[in-house]
Amino acid sequence: MDSALPAEQRAHLALQAMTLDEKLQLVHGTGWGVLRDGDPVAPGHNGGAGFVPGIPRLHIPDINLADSAVGIRMAARESRYATLLPSALGLAATWDPDAAYLYGSVIGRELRDQGYNMSIGGGVNLMREPRNGRNFEYAGEDPLLAGTEVGNLIRGVQSNQIIGDVKHYALNDQETGRNTINVLLNQRAMRETDLLAFQIAIEIGHPLAAMCSYNRINGDYACENSYTLKDVLKHDFGFKGFVLSDWEGTHSTTKAALAGLDMEQPGSDFFGKSLLQAVENGSVPRSRLDDMAERVLYSLFASGAVDHPPVRRVVNPFLGLKDAQHIAEESVVLLQNEKQVLPLNKNQNGIIAIIGSHADVGVLSGGGSAQVDAPGGNAIDASEGAAVWGKPVYFPSAPLQFVCEKAPHANVLFDSGDNLQAATTLAAKADIAIVFVHQWMTEGQDAASLSLPEKQDALVEAVATANKKTIVVLETGGPVSMPWAPRVAAILETWYPGIGGGEAIANILFGDVNPSGKLPATFARQDADLPYPHVPALTEATGNNGMNAHADGTKSEPESATVDYNLQGLKVGYKWFQTEHKQPLFAFGHGLSYTNFAYSALQCDSPSKAVTFQIQNTGQRSGDEIAQVYATLPASSGEPFRRLVGWKRVALAPGETRMVSITPNPALMSVFDVKSDSWKLEPGMYRIEVGAASDDLKLQTTVGLP
Ligand code: BGC
Repeated sequence: MDSALPAEQRAHLALQAMTLDEKLQLVHGTGWGVLRDGDPVAPGHNGGAGFVPGIPRLHIPDINLADSAVGIRMAARESRYATLLPSALGLAATWDPDAAYLYGSVIGRELRDQGYNMSIGGGVNLMREPRNGRNFEYAGEDPLLAGTEVGNLIRGVQSNQIIGDVKHYALNDQETGRNTINVLLNQRAMRETDLLAFQIAIEIGHPLAAMCSYNRINGDYACENSYTLKDVLKHDFGFKGFVLSDWEGTHSTTKAALAGLDMEQPGSDFFGKSLLQAVENGSVPRSRLDDMAERVLYSLFASGAVDHPPVRRVVNPFLGLKDAQHIAEESVVLLQNEKQVLPLNKNQNGIIAIIGSHADVGVLSGGGSAQVDAPGGNAIDASEGAAVWGKPVYFPSAPLQFVCEKAPHANVLFDSGDNLQAATTLAAKADIAIVFVHQWMTEGQDAASLSLPEKQDALVEAVATANKKTIVVLETGGPVSMPWAPRVAAILETWYPGIGGGEAIANILFGDVNPSGKLPATFARQDADLPYPHVPALTEATGNNGMNAHADGTKSEPESATVDYNLQGLKVGYKWFQTEHKQPLFAFGHGLSYTNFAYSALQCDSPSKAVTFQIQNTGQRSGDEIAQVYATLPASSGEPFRRLVGWKRVALAPGETRMVSITPNPALMSVFDVKSDSWKLEPGMYRIEVGAASDDLKLQTTVGLP
């Protein structure tokens, strides 16, 4: 308990004082608890997804874990409040590391207030599959952007004396078949794509826990894969925390323990009695059990959970709302704005039609274990207390109300969009038609296609035919196709915008906030342009991962499936589109503003030195620009596509010019050499490009490395 000693030393001292049983107690959970009706709930359990009892005689506290990807889950059952932040993908669209830190600090603060000391979140699975049900919990398709945002999010969480977590390690990039699927990918591609996102998140955030995923990787389950866990995560990344399994993602005792798994969750099928036996018969060395327990202890000391236990209080909803709204305002991406139809005029009179997606009552949220409970219950079904698995939940931040407040002279009318005729009639008589469309996504299932569900494409087409000033507001889990894009005036992507969403949307529509978000993922025109035109293993019969399987057997998980990611390999997202010469609907990095920015004076002497350039706000409004730097490596690298190597979010007043200097992340300038197991800078010519988006590069130069 000497807080002056380093965490490592305290962990070691505590370990030495522990019995074998006490060590074992720290390396598994106590069962499904509140997650499964009727299951026993251990004393001291705080109502979250997991619980590990502490050791009072040594002052080792209980670990109370809560799912908290986009805010804290399961608050309703205890009548607690939790702020719903914008989706993590929305956070990535801010390209703002400070917003990410703020995001994590909201989660950390509220976890403490609710009595938790560990967060499960920090999802950084790369978007190889744009129809993945959990993309809203992750940070997009680029390893540098995703890793930077999630790393800063974890810093924010852990700034509250909470154990932070990064997940789902690794390559759990689709939900279909997630418990059985074998993901194939060569080591170089792994290191430069999916694992690089984790590496960067870990370097920045130093999470004290990492959750291994359900899937297999090149044959072995992720929670018993010694390459990804032992060689890469613990050795190469220098990860000092503990690895916990996803819920029932542990498949063995000896193999998993030797491969680097430190904690089984939620129960003790493999790391309880079986682990004791394995230690006693020598198949798992005692030193390995010590290492497992010591890592858990280290995380408890290093986080501050031992010295600064959480103090329960009422969560401050006002602070949470303010923070969530700020992040939402930075996250909204203006995809299209024909003839500057946006921003709308606050003196607008006549009729503004608001159509669809329950915009009269709220904004959509994502489902699964990332679901946050809405204050007052689901805004579209108040009969429910807590969120129900498998049902979309709306949060009570109604765009309609805020649009009414912004435009006091207009007659703002709402139509549900359920009936095409009624919607078109309203749109036809309106001066402006704002159509809200949604794509509800959840853990446990992928979207079968990029198309908007529930015939919403037809709704947009009909409204656009009836009204030339049609503005589409998207609330989606990830990329969707938009066959109607050429026929609407403006398009805003708001992701799942969180509890401040309604007001953030109105602020952007009316120009009180200048949109500044940029896409963290490519929006394809159609499924056929993706590396996999169909989600691998997804069929009518195997529409999910088995969690939603019904007793009558209507849907079940594929017994075995393989997804060969070597097909895209290194070419994730925009890199695929560039090398395949496919034109996306909206490119990675794209996002418009109500002002304009001019780029000039590019300077770069060497691929390992800073890239400098100037940006000027040449328009009439203040705005933030996210300036992006891409590099294309020498031909010898065999990677003939540009990669994002750095960026900066710059705030500029009208007319203001700023010099920007960006030093590329060295890993992004290198290739991973499997033979020497290290990153290498290739000699040769590097092409450096700077601009507003991956398809809007304004400046370029070539620099050589001898
Ligand atoms: C999810 C994890 C989650 C866990 C506990 C699993 O189904 O994949 O992300 O943390 O459940 O709720």
